[in-house]
Amino acid sequence: MTLAKTEASGGPGLLPEVMAFSSSLSLDRQLLREDLVGSMAHVTMLGRTGVIPLADARAIRAGLVEVWKRADAGTLTLPNEEDVHMAVEVELNRTIGAPAALLHSARSRNDQVATDLRLHVREIAAVALGALTDFIQELVTRARLEKDVILPSYTHRQRAQPISLAYWMGSYGAAFLRDAQSLAFVLEQCKLLPLGVGAISGSSLPIDREVTRQLLSFEGVTLNGMDTVGDRDFALDLLYATSKFFVHASRLSTDLIDFSTQEFGFASLSGDISMGSSMMPQKKNPDVFELIRGKSGKAIGNLMGLLTTVKGLPGGYNRDLQEDRASLLETGPLLLGSLSVLRLALPRVTFHPEKCRVGVDEGFTQATDLAEALVKKGMPFRKAYQVVGSLVRRCQEQGLNLRQASVEMAQAIDPSLDAVTLSVLEPSGAVARKLSAGSTGPAAVQATLASLEAQAKVLGARAATVPRLTQLYASISGSSL
Ligand code: ARG
Repeated sequence: MTLAKTEASGGPGLLPEVMAFSSSLSLDRQLLREDLVGSMAHVTMLGRTGVIPLADARAIRAGLVEVWKRADAGTLTLPNEEDVHMAVEVELNRTIGAPAALLHSARSRNDQVATDLRLHVREIAAVALGALTDFIQELVTRARLEKDVILPSYTHRQRAQPISLAYWMGSYGAAFLRDAQSLAFVLEQCKLLPLGVGAISGSSLPIDREVTRQLLSFEGVTLNGMDTVGDRDFALDLLYATSKFFVHASRLSTDLIDFSTQEFGFASLSGDISMGSSMMPQKKNPDVFELIRGKSGKAIGNLMGLLTTVKGLPGGYNRDLQEDRASLLETGPLLLGSLSVLRLALPRVTFHPEKCRVGVDEGFTQATDLAEALVKKGMPFRKAYQVVGSLVRRCQEQGLNLRQASVEMAQAIDPSLDAVTLSVLEPSGAVARKLSAGSTGPAAVQATLASLEAQAKVLGARAATVPRLTQLYASISGSSL
C-alpha cells in the first residue's frame, strides 16, 4: 500500500498503517460506475452554472468518460487511494491534468458517497425487483399447471389439511410479492438526490441541484444536508427487504428439502441441481436449497451490522459510516445470485402426486372436512369435532386411514356418519369444497394467482422505469455542456 498522495487522504505525514486501516478502496472500487456518473452530472452542473469555466467542465467530463471506457475495457488500474472518490480524482488528474482540480468544487466526499450509495441501492433494487416479479410470474404459471396435485398442508410440521400444490405455490408467491413491495419501497426511499449538500451545510457557490437532479433522474433533492450526509436509511431498507426475501426463500427451501427426503417423498430434484457426497455414493443432496437457507444468515447479519454501525452516531457525517460498505456491497450479489439460482432450481423440482396423496390419507387430514360436513347437517361444531375425533382414534386402533373406515364402523360412533357424509373424505373433493376467499378452493386459488400476477406485473413495470447506470452514463455524456 502506497502512502496517501492527497491531502484529503491525510497528507504525506499519515502513517502507512493508518492509511491502510482507513482505506475503503478494496470494497468501494465496486462503486466506480456510480462515482463516475455522479461526477459527470456534477461537473455538467458546475459548467452550466458557471461555477467553473465551460472549457474545463468539458475537459473534465471527457476525462471521466475516458476513465469509464477504460474501466469497461478492463484496462483501468485505479491508483491506490483512500477511497474510490479520491482514486477517480487522481486518475482524472493523470488523464487530463490541471482542470481535474476543479471537479470537487462545491462537493464533499460526504455528499458524493451518499450519492454513489443511493445510485447503487437504486440499481440493485430495480434489478432485483425485475427478477423477483419475473419469478413470481413463473411461480404463478407453475402453480396453474399443478392445480390438481393434492398434498397435505402442515401446522407444527404435523399433517393438517389437504391443499392443492397450486395453493402451496401461491403461499410463497404471496410472501415474495411482499418482498417485491418492499423493494418498490426501497426505490421510493432512493428518489431524493443527496448531491449538492456538500460536507454538511451546503455551498456558497452558485450551484443548482435541480440540474444534477434531472441529469441523475431523481424526483427531488434531499431536504436537509445535515441529515443527508448521515443518512443510510435507504441502505437499511434494501438490507431489510433482502433479509425478508431470504427468510421467505429459506422457508421455501426447507419445505423443498423436506419434501425431497425419502421420508416425505413428495418431490425429487433433477440431477442438474442436486449434489453428491464425497463419500456416500448413493447421495443426491439438496445443497442448492440448503445454501439459499444458509445465505440468509449473511443477509440478516448484514442488516444487523449496518443497524449497529449507525446506532448512536452523533448528527452529521461520521467516518463510522464508511463501514456501511461491506454489508451493502455484499447485498446485491447475495440477493441477485440466490434469486437467479432459485429461478433455475424450482422448475427442476418434480412433484409426485401419488406420494403426496398417500400423505393426505395417512395423515387423517380430511378430519376437519368431515366435521364440517356434520356441521352442514346441523350438528354443533364441538360435537362434530368429538365424533370425528372418535372415528380417527377408532381407525388408528385398527390401522386404517379415514377413507378405509366402513359406514357401519362410522355409524356405530354416530348415526349421522352415513355414506354420503363420508364421501367428503375424497381428497380432491375436500380441496374443491373450500369456498372461502384466500382458501385452497380452486376458485380462490385462481383468484389469488390472478392477483399475484397482476400485482407482479405492475411492480415489474415500475422496476423497468428506473434508469440504469449505463443509461445515465449515455445520457449525461451526451447532454449539453
Ligand atoms: N471514505 C469515506 C467513504 O467513502 C468518505 C470520506 C468522507 N469524508 C471524510 N472527511 N473523511 O465513506
